[in-house]
Amino acid sequence: MKANWLDANERTGQEIEAATLDVQGVMYKVLDTDPAEYREPLDTIKRVQGYIQEDQIELTPNTPNLDEICAKFVDEHYHDEDEVRFVLDGEGIFDIRSKDDRWMRVVVETGDLIIVPAGRHHRFTLTEKKTIRCMRLFKDPSGWVAHYRQ
Ligand code: LAC
Ligand code: NI
Repeated sequence: MKANWLDANERTGQEIEAATLDVQGVMYKVLDTDPAEYREPLDTIKRVQGYIQEDQIELTPNTPNLDEICAKFVDEHYHDEDEVRFVLDGEGIFDIRSKDDRWMRVVVETGDLIIVPAGRHHRFTLTEKKTIRCMRLFKDPSGWVAHYRQ
């Protein structure tokens, strides 16, 4: 993980420590991507946070409708549920609003688990590798709706 503030012109600024993400309500952890290693800590997170369902999504340059799928994430939005992503392969860029509405750019890579809290505005893009495979955890996937910022 590498995190930085974006300035008013959305240029990369000062580095953000994991502790700052924590203060900002964004949970961040590194887990081993071997299922035999991650299962126990992941189940603990599921139990503690109340996530009952998991699935995996993969985006690659070969994904049909890749541009269409990415277009849904690129505009600023929030969800009524936490957005939980455990990166099993590849990388991606989460821009997450701080509590005082500044952008925090969080570049996640293999082994990173990030939780964007419910109600927090964010957006997502792929890196130039255009490849990510993630586990997603949900409390209620039927509530997985993006509310776009006006
Ligand atoms: C989502 C992310 C990628 O809404 O922001 O699934
Ligand atoms: Ni989202």
